[in-house]
Amino acid sequence: MLPSILSLLVLLLHTIGASTTALQPISRKTCQSTGTHCPRGTLVVSPTSKHASYKTVQSAIDSLPDDATPQTILILEGTYIEQVNITRSGPITLLGQTSSPKDASKNRVRITWAAGNRDSTGSVDNVFSSVLVVAPTLEASLTGAGPTGYPVPDDTSFGNKDFRVYNIDFDNTWAEYSDGPAHALSFSRANGGFYYCGFYSYQDTVYIGKLGNAYFYQSILAGQTDFLYGFGTAWIQSSTIQLRGCGGGITAWKGTNTTTPNKYGVYIVDSSVRAANVSVAADIKGSCALGRPWNSQHRSIFARSYEDGSIDPQGYIDWVIDDVGRFEEGVTFMAEYRVYGPGINETARIEGGVTEVLGWEGYETYSTPQKVFRDTKWVDWGVVKGN
Ligand SMILES: *[C@@H]1O[C@H](CO)[C@@H](O)[C@H](O)[C@H]1NC(C)=O
Ligand SMILES: *[C@@H]1O[C@H](CO)[C@@H](O)[C@H](O)[C@H]1NC(C)=O
Ligand SMILES: *[C@@H]1O[C@H](CO)[C@@H](O)[C@H](O)[C@H]1NC(C)=O
Ligand SMILES: *[C@@H]1O[C@H](CO)[C@@H](O)[C@H](O)[C@H]1NC(C)=O
Repeated sequence: MLPSILSLLVLLLHTIGASTTALQPISRKTCQSTGTHCPRGTLVVSPTSKHASYKTVQSAIDSLPDDATPQTILILEGTYIEQVNITRSGPITLLGQTSSPKDASKNRVRITWAAGNRDSTGSVDNVFSSVLVVAPTLEASLTGAGPTGYPVPDDTSFGNKDFRVYNIDFDNTWAEYSDGPAHALSFSRANGGFYYCGFYSYQDTVYIGKLGNAYFYQSILAGQTDFLYGFGTAWIQSSTIQLRGCGGGITAWKGTNTTTPNKYGVYIVDSSVRAANVSVAADIKGSCALGRPWNSQHRSIFARSYEDGSIDPQGYIDWVIDDVGRFEEGVTFMAEYRVYGPGINETARIEGGVTEVLGWEGYETYSTPQKVFRDTKWVDWGVVKGN
């Protein structure tokens, strides 16, 4: 009799304990500012704090179970000099400590690494320069070369299905000008949302690889040359595209040959495209192209966005190698929809001959994340609606 009463008592206490925890509401913003009200089991990272169990982000990632349970990692303020590589398929949320959760310019967590790829022999891949890599395998993350890029094996599994990051900066400090590909982010065969984050480099800052689905919200994406590029699908909402110089184009996309049909491309919406500061603005006036076709199937749209005077009056440009342009009429899709600001010159856009100015009919097919991603369950719609 006694043992069963004891076990009942234990069960009862356990239940009370659990419901007490349940009474403490989970609040992302409180978790980020005070470290309380975090989801149960949240791992804490800091190189210095005694409240932390991990000193590096990668060691916390490596400790996660290889299963489908959602996991949260709170990263306390500081600069982390490391490359982070995530292959896990179960949901992961990375929270950066902050007291300004709605302002990416005030982020206090910075993950930084200095690496570029100046190798032109093809023996080294751009992925090895990246501050953050999210992909199920190394092959899935390789950029490769040529018009179709690295041939990722068809039987490669999908990687992370629900990856979320809040208030973290990823900064590749390889050089202070374009000096070969230097990724802040490499994201392939995965679904991920980045909220109030920063991505800083000069060349090839953000790479969304094959079957990568990435949603950016109120984030800062900074660079000089081809700094939004890839094969996958990127939706950049209410963000700042920060020009640190000009070179190539802002966007450089490739058509993708994958077993899963998708509306690959980069969609920059309700955002602003502007020089990083006044001294850069003076240097680059009228010279930054909106994009250039990495292959003829490039697809990008700047929609309802502000373009400052740094933009090339022609808008987009062709990518010409050995006198052969990659732009293909009716195939290459380099467009704008209801953009505004001093970067607009309708006459020059028409003269340039590669920029498509869309009306609603042309834009409608690409006009919401739901239309360009296969599903959007992994997007934090609460944040997007202002919570
Ligand atoms: C990321 O980690 C996986 C698993 O350990 C490894 O196979 C892959 O090479 C790593 N990727 C990079 C770019 O280092
Ligand atoms: C302006 O931005 C450029 C490019 O990032 C940087 O090199 C320069 O130091 C910045 N200048 C000022 C005054 O902040
Ligand atoms: C896609 O694959 C087809 C058939 O293998 C090939 O002919 C075509 O060039 C490829 N195109 C791209 C952009 O990958
Ligand atoms: C717009 O472009 C046309 C043609 O290139 C040029 O003549 C004109 O000066 C530009 N307008 C402005 C305001 O820059």
